[in-house]
Formats: sequence, C-alpha cells, structure tokens
Amino acid sequence: MISHFGYDTMPNATIPTTRPNSAMPPGPRGTLILGMLGKLRASRLDFYLQLAQEYGDLVSFRIAHRRVYLASHPDLIEQVLVTDARHYIKHFGARLYKPVLGNGLVTSEGDFWLRQRKLSQPAFLKSRIQAYVPVMAELTDRAVSRWSDGQQVDIHEQFSELTSAIALKTLFDLDDPGDRETFVHALRNVFTDLTGRLFSSGGLLPLWVPTPANRRIQRGIRHLYSVVDGYIARGRTRSTPGTDLLSRLIAARDDDGQPMTDRQLREEAMTLYLAGHETTALTLTWAWYLLAQHPQVEEKLLAEWSAVLGGRTPGIDDLTKLPYTDAVLTEAMRVYPPVYLVGREALCDLELGGYRVPKGTTIFMSQWVSHRDPRYFSDPEEFRPERWLDGLAQRIPRYAYYPFGGGPRVCIGQAFALMEAAILLAGVGQQYRFTIDPGPPVEMDPQITLLPKGGIPVTLKRR
Ligand code: HEM
Repeated sequence: MISHFGYDTMPNATIPTTRPNSAMPPGPRGTLILGMLGKLRASRLDFYLQLAQEYGDLVSFRIAHRRVYLASHPDLIEQVLVTDARHYIKHFGARLYKPVLGNGLVTSEGDFWLRQRKLSQPAFLKSRIQAYVPVMAELTDRAVSRWSDGQQVDIHEQFSELTSAIALKTLFDLDDPGDRETFVHALRNVFTDLTGRLFSSGGLLPLWVPTPANRRIQRGIRHLYSVVDGYIARGRTRSTPGTDLLSRLIAARDDDGQPMTDRQLREEAMTLYLAGHETTALTLTWAWYLLAQHPQVEEKLLAEWSAVLGGRTPGIDDLTKLPYTDAVLTEAMRVYPPVYLVGREALCDLELGGYRVPKGTTIFMSQWVSHRDPRYFSDPEEFRPERWLDGLAQRIPRYAYYPFGGGPRVCIGQAFALMEAAILLAGVGQQYRFTIDPGPPVEMDPQITLLPKGGIPVTLKRR
C-alpha cells in the first residue's frame, strides 16, 4: 500500500504473502460493460495512482472484457518481469502495431524473440555504441547552430527532430535531410492511420479487409517497406561494412551461422527507430521543462559542465565525469518516465503476491506510480537530483525505479539512450537556456509514451 511512512530508505514495505492463492486482489467494480475504461480514458495517470493509493500493491479491475491487475510493489514487479518472465508475453497494447513492426524485438515472443535479441545485442555493447558519440555531438552542434537568441520554439519538437536525425544516422547512415524526410513522412502516415483505426468503427475489421481506409494503410505500409528495403539493399552491397546499426545487424550470425532475412532486418530496424528516438527526445524535453523551473539545479549543472567540459560538447572520455548530469537525467526520468507503463499477459494460471492470476490476465506495472512511491522516494513530487548522489539506487529495491523496464525484455538501447541524453543535455545547455512561455500549464498526454499535450513552448536565451 502506498503510505506516508519512511523516505528514500525503506526497502522492506509489506506485500501480501499469506492469502490463500485462490483470492483475487481487491479493486473497483466499474461499470458492467466497460469496466474502468471510462475512468482510464479520462485521466490515465491519476487513475493508476489512485488505484494504488486506494487498494494497495496489487489491484484488480476490468477494462471492457479484460481482467487487469496493477502491480505496484517492487517485489511483485520483479516477479512478473524477471522471475516468472517465461510465463508472460507482452500485453495487448504492445501488439497494436504488429501490422507494421511485425516480429521486431518489441513485438516478438518466445524462441524467435530470443534469437533476434541475441543477434542484436552485440550491436548495443558499450564498446560498439561509443562510436556514435561524435555523431551525436556533431548533430547536436548543428541543431543548436540554427537557433537564435529570443526565438520561440517547442522543445518537444526540437528534441524529437534532433533524436530522429541521430537515430537515422546511427541506424541507417542517413545524412541528407531530404532522405530523412522521406522516411519520417512514410512512417508518420502509417502510424497516424493505424492509430486512427482504433477510434473508428472500421478498426474492428481486420486489416486485410479491403475497405478504403485499410487499402490506404496497406499502401502506406508497402511504401514504408520499400523505403527501408532500399537502405537494406544499400547496406548489403557496401564494399566495406559500415558502423551503423543496420550494417551490424546485416553482419550478425546466429548460433547456426544464419543471418537475418531482409524482412527480419526491416522489422528490427523500424522497431529500433520507433523505440529509440521518441523516448530519448522525451527524456530531454521533460528534463528541460524541470530545469526551467529549478534554476538552482541548472546552476549546479553549469558548474559541472564548466569544470569538466569548458564549453565543449561531451566526448566519450567526459561521460563518466558528469555525475550531476547523470543524477539530473535519472531524476527527470523518475518524475516524468518516458515509458510510464509496461504490461504483460499471463500464459497460464499463476500466482502473484499470494493472489491468483488466471491465464489471460493482463498485469500492468506503472513507472508513473512506482516512481512516486513515498516508501522509496521522500517528497516524490519534488524534482531533487541530489537524492541520487548518496547511493539511493543501492538502498532501494531494484524495481522501485525502472525507466528501462527489466528482466530479459529490458530495454536494449539503455546505454545508447543514456549516452545520447547526457550529450544532448550538456551540448545544448552550455549554449542556451529555456524559459517556458506564459500560458496554460503544460498537460500530459499519456499515449504509448508520456507526451506533453500540444508541446512545450519556450523562448531560447543564449548564454
Ligand atoms: C530514455 C530512452 C528510453 C526509454 C525510457 C526506454 C524504455 C524502454 C522500456 C521500459 C522497455 C521495456 C518495455 C517492456 O518491458 O514492455 C524498452 C524496450 C526496448 N527498447 Fe527502449 N527505451 C529508451 C531508449 C531506447 C533506445 C535508444 C533504443 C534503441 C536504439 C531502444 C530500443 C528498445 C527495444 C528494441 C526494446 C525491446 C527489447 C526487447 O523486448 O527485447 N530503447 N525500452
């Protein structure tokens, strides 16, 4: 139960362990047909937080016909993500984009997923991704050089463009803005149409039914695939293998010496672009949103940057020398986790915290809820990077803080994202600061990631 005892130090809060495992966890009843769908739609983040506050560490409710549990104790989260991982698959939400992403790492399961993960993992070794530091630094400098003092921009849009450019360069070795636009445009069309399906009656029909909307989506997907297949063909015919991620995936071989097929490469490459760039852009967007309201934190960052970097955008040797920068990013992802919810579906009847988990139950785990748990974080609504500087990460349970998920399906791009975020924060922050433009308070728009509704308009101030 989320309660107000203890702060930043209490790893041993209780979870139910003695109930007969035939019992269902407590929770609200909801309406007959929709369950809690109405409340969920109205305000997803508050809904999850209130459920945990009212009903405790494991809550049961219904979304339409689905039985859903919300697990909020670190030990329960660890059991689902790690100990019992083989008895769960991704939840229904993660399958929505399967028509485009196919069997990419985010959407695949079982032995196929394991093979693909093993094939992809070496490309994400720290020693390999360090090669991308100069690219990240250069593209950051290029983006900042286009800004001017007093200019009004949406920081979310700016960071999305920058991380997209970095993703396309590191993934496909794409440099040309026209080429980037072709890819982004093709992808955006498909995703807008697919998301639109969710809210239309046509969305109930499978994609292969030739309605005008479905035909448009299929055309969009074919176009997107032809664009990506072009990059794969180019990668295959290179005389010397490139260092971009796609080239590394092309060169990878499984235990039987087999490479990925073109289709597998296409699905993995699109997955990496989608999973990687928006999440990192959001880390930066929310970090700057918080920094704009905490000048004392910004001052400390500037002091660290001035001592270590002296105005330079960070290089590889600098990254281990920026503990305060690291604490700021860690704390920004605690307060505004870019991925605020992960979900799993039980493959068989299971047990969790002394309760029954019938086959097919969806288990949600929300970083938004966990990262605000006062058992582990004192004054959880406060943005206080200092809390991470005295070993808090070692004192709290492993799954009190999990912006990158955990267990076998932990984010493959974690080191990549942290490296990129530190470079962008320091590269941008030494040259500009942001003041939030007056207007209504920024609202959150929790989709798959935690977006700011309508962006965050700011004015750039040259330092
Ligand atoms: C701050 C940035 C990022 C955050 C917060 C983040 C968060 C996450 C989370 C929470 C998961 C687990 C989802 C689940 O368990 O259902 C995940 C998985 C994944 N992420 Fe990230 N991610 C970030 C950046 C990246 C980057 C840069 C890449 C690639 C370049 C990437 C690629 C992936 C992939 C492929 C998976 C699926 C892994 C698997 O299931 O084997 N992510 N990410």
